[in-house]
Amino acid sequence: MTFFKKIDTLEKSSIGSELGTAVFVVSAQMLLKFGIATVALMGSILLIKGELSVMQFFCFLLVASRLYEPMSGTLINLAALNAMQVNVDRMNKIVDFKEQSGSDEFTPNGYDITFENAGFSYEDGKTVLENVSFTAKQGEVTALVGLSGGGKTTVSRLAARFWDTDKGSVKVGGIDIKNVDPEKLLSVYSIVFQDVTLFNNTVMENIRVGKKDASDEEVLKAAKLANCDEFIKELPNGYDTVIGENGSELSGGERQRISIARAFLKNAPIILLDEATASLDVENETKVQSAISRLIKDKTVMVIAHRMRTVAGANKVVVLSDGCVAEQGTPDELLKKNGIFAHMVKLQTEGQNWSIA
Ligand SMILES: Nc1ncnc2c1ncn2[C@@H]1O[C@H](COP(=O)(O)OP(=O)(O)O)[C@@H](O)[C@H]1O
Ligand SMILES: [Mg+2]
Repeated sequence: MTFFKKIDTLEKSSIGSELGTAVFVVSAQMLLKFGIATVALMGSILLIKGELSVMQFFCFLLVASRLYEPMSGTLINLAALNAMQVNVDRMNKIVDFKEQSGSDEFTPNGYDITFENAGFSYEDGKTVLENVSFTAKQGEVTALVGLSGGGKTTVSRLAARFWDTDKGSVKVGGIDIKNVDPEKLLSVYSIVFQDVTLFNNTVMENIRVGKKDASDEEVLKAAKLANCDEFIKELPNGYDTVIGENGSELSGGERQRISIARAFLKNAPIILLDEATASLDVENETKVQSAISRLIKDKTVMVIAHRMRTVAGANKVVVLSDGCVAEQGTPDELLKKNGIFAHMVKLQTEGQNWSIA
């Protein structure tokens, strides 16, 4: 998993450099080609004028074309070398990445998630989170809200130790997760993010990812709970339908429901949820929503909330703004405070009342 995380960040930096090399090689080759054309053109003119003999003309053409080949070969090798350097840099960064380790022993006292003065920056060094402190209690829904770029996704990923905090700590049931083996830790999390990874395999196996040793009956039960059953039955081979590379034949809502079915199957005490945005149609949204409300019962739930309906139903709201906790409290308390949260609610409610005249 660590490996993929790194790739994600590294890809961005290397694309620019590869593109640069390609542009350089193409333009240099064009220049060379122009060189040959110029020799031929100038030679022809001089030949017509009688200032050059046919023999001389051919000699020049020969030399020009002979020069062209090694130079173009060098250029191509140069490009390959540069591309290799990018790959080597990429591999070095992965090799240099400090592997997360920790104890296999993990006996938390309940499943409250506590952020204590957590500070974090990605590799580029820009501070993304600063002094983030809040508790997501077991049996409650804690909604993270805030404008895009505020740090919601980062907080939810730190909660599952995708990365370690630079300052402060994240604790689960009183235990600092920095000291727990990542694999062991993840066994108590169900993560339903928007970018659902599906495998080129049957629907049945795709759901079974949630719990590898689950029986077919267990998978079917989870699928029903997640409102997957109906759409799966309509597929050509039902549960045995192979859903193609990353499930491209399924809609966004269907993919998310498969991911919810996995979470039902896993039945982990902590749920991290990135709520789907407006990309879902109303029917799909209602189905996803009802599946989610069944899933999160009695669990520690941290949800990145986009819909005000979810936020209103949350026990606690944490407003993140520029990497800091700007406000926190129950939805009612924050509405009374008339700050960022109240403003966001007002904006969204106004949006919902819009109609096309
Ligand atoms: N992998 C990454 N590498 C570097 N910076 C990142 C990465 N992911 C997010 N960021 C930066 O961190 C900040 C917070 O992002 P994010 O947690 O995604 O916010 P939100 O989910 O609230 O939109 C943004 O400024 C974003 O550009
Ligand atoms: Mg986000």
